[in-house]
Amino acid sequence: MSVNDNPDLRMIERGDEPLSNLSDNQTFANVLEARFGRRELLKGGLGAAVVGLFGGMALSGCNSSSSGAGNGGSAPVELLGFDAVPVSEMDEIVVPEGYSFQVIGRWGDPIIGGTPEFALDNTGADQAGQIGSHHDGMHYFPIEGEDPYEGSSEDGLLVLNHEYVESRYMHASAVGQELNAWVVTFKEDLSRDADEVLKEMNAHGVSVYRINKNSDNTWSIQYDSRNRRITALTPMEIQGPVRGSDLVRTKYSPQGHATRGTINNCAHGVTPWNTYLAAEENWAGYFCNADETRPREHSRYGVIAGSFSRYNWHRADNGADEFLRFDASSTGSDATEDYRNEPNCFGWMVEIDPFDPDSTPKKRTAMGRFAHEGVVFQPAEEGRPVVCYSGDDARFEYIYKYVSAQNFHKATAGGHLLDTGTLYVARFNEDGSGEWLPLVYGLNGLTEANGFSSQADVLVNTRLAADFVGATKMDRPEWGAVDPNTRQVYFTLTNNTRREDDETDAMNPRGPNYHGHIIRWREQDDDPAALLFAWDIFAVAGDASGVDSLTGGRDGAGNALTEDNKFSSPDGLWIDKDSRIWIQMDMSESVMNVNPTYAMMGNNGMLAADPVSGEIRRFLTGPLGQEITGVITTPDQRTMFINVQHPGATTTEEDFAAGRLTGTWPDHNGGYGRSATVVIWKDDGGKIGS
Ligand code: FEO
Ligand code: CA
Ligand code: CA
Repeated sequence: MSVNDNPDLRMIERGDEPLSNLSDNQTFANVLEARFGRRELLKGGLGAAVVGLFGGMALSGCNSSSSGAGNGGSAPVELLGFDAVPVSEMDEIVVPEGYSFQVIGRWGDPIIGGTPEFALDNTGADQAGQIGSHHDGMHYFPIEGEDPYEGSSEDGLLVLNHEYVESRYMHASAVGQELNAWVVTFKEDLSRDADEVLKEMNAHGVSVYRINKNSDNTWSIQYDSRNRRITALTPMEIQGPVRGSDLVRTKYSPQGHATRGTINNCAHGVTPWNTYLAAEENWAGYFCNADETRPREHSRYGVIAGSFSRYNWHRADNGADEFLRFDASSTGSDATEDYRNEPNCFGWMVEIDPFDPDSTPKKRTAMGRFAHEGVVFQPAEEGRPVVCYSGDDARFEYIYKYVSAQNFHKATAGGHLLDTGTLYVARFNEDGSGEWLPLVYGLNGLTEANGFSSQADVLVNTRLAADFVGATKMDRPEWGAVDPNTRQVYFTLTNNTRREDDETDAMNPRGPNYHGHIIRWREQDDDPAALLFAWDIFAVAGDASGVDSLTGGRDGAGNALTEDNKFSSPDGLWIDKDSRIWIQMDMSESVMNVNPTYAMMGNNGMLAADPVSGEIRRFLTGPLGQEITGVITTPDQRTMFINVQHPGATTTEEDFAAGRLTGTWPDHNGGYGRSATVVIWKDDGGKIGS
């Protein structure tokens, strides 16, 4: 039986980005409308407003100065030295002339000794020794293990997230059934095969494996004692202010000190002390709660009401505790006898030391609980606080900043810096300024009188605290990136198709916002810990229909996008040592290649932008049905790693049943598509993008 046969389950298909912000806080559109006035903006056109913004910010030297915060890079005159690749609908990767690529690290490739090669009938245990599925955020750690951006460019640990799974592509039992990308199969009694559940859980999490560069520029996976799989089952510690709180006491950890696993790890972060952070994004839909009413810790985040969830792991037919916990209903006499608090153990940033395979991952609760897309750090400065930013990817959610209480000292820096500090949420003001509002118990009305009982309560209910202090609702904040040479911060706002016509304003005169945009800001006095900032729009994603069109895009110089750089739904974002901005597309597979608004964009791809000239150019296009996500180079910038996630996801349920697959990248051998990492190099040995 499939979910398609059950009307109750159809409603929870596509469990990502649930709309659950019902507060009356301002939207980004409200702010912009108030700032410019609707009529004035319509008259001047979107582009005039976009270009005008940055000039009006009184930020001298915004694009030209270096704060000295960089990693040793110097900004070349011309950052984009390649010819744009055209839009593609091929089931293949396309890179610019003069570049080559190699596929490495596919879902199911073994990385632990003794693990079998990939096959459809691999067991749940097999998957625990293989690379997970649905590759996402990623970092290359030079093998010396001293600095995340310096060291060997030929030998390192590749660490990557696995965001989710497509059950239909994982199990022999699914063959021949009408299944789309979002559903699972049940037995007649609506239970699930326990080993299929185990396999799905082991395909989640994070992979750590060693890679080496060969003399021909290709790379190979090495079996190494540090190779590791972290999954939805790996024991984890809860650290920071929420540790020991009543809100995280469970049957597994009555003290509220621990939980098992990390899920829906979208983007990532890299700490200045050389560890990796995995974000927990759309975790809420993995849980359900059949109680009459759900607590706010569940409802504001989208934990599903009822007894079915996205993957229904709690319905495993062996009734094991590690599966049952995804049912957050109150079944015991108190929280230590059931898993009513299990959803509160998710929605965090998870710190992993890739160089210590025996280390226990730590959930850093001081950084807040929401649909963390990822986290990005300002370059660390000796004797100054550690500062990082994180977006909450759901419609009308917020952007956050964390500032450590203790200062950074390279000799002693570590995860403790993420346990004591202040979490802020962004308010964007009409005049181009912005404020960071602290989410601190006792401040800004976050008090007993208003329903907050402690700092742990504020953090578990981060979204509600942010609602309360008046944060600005944004159009799905995705990845952030910090320019290492200027400290300016960029964030992708991927789209917001829920914006109604009457919610549009002149700055964002599109209802719905089909294609998204990229915002940037500069902290006051270039001090990352500042409480004020100035902001602007860097680029508006869209098609080549012109600056005054409903769907037309605009580059960083105010020019209409063209066939060479039109793009939609910016998601992945990274800025290299030279300040080259890498932008990755994630149009939903429900619209890619089929919906007229998006079809002319072809497959999802990747572009590069120059933050000074504002120019944008398409660098790569991906195969059918996928998104490009995750990007990093080696320290010498001569090798780039990117990920292809969910190739073939556009295969319809009818076609799946008939064995007609849309997209079988990378192997094209009659089997299913598999998420994989792609290694890219320039044939002349130059820097990627140059
Ligand atoms: Fe997992 Fe917001 O992309
Ligand atoms: Ca993403
Ligand atoms: Ca995405």
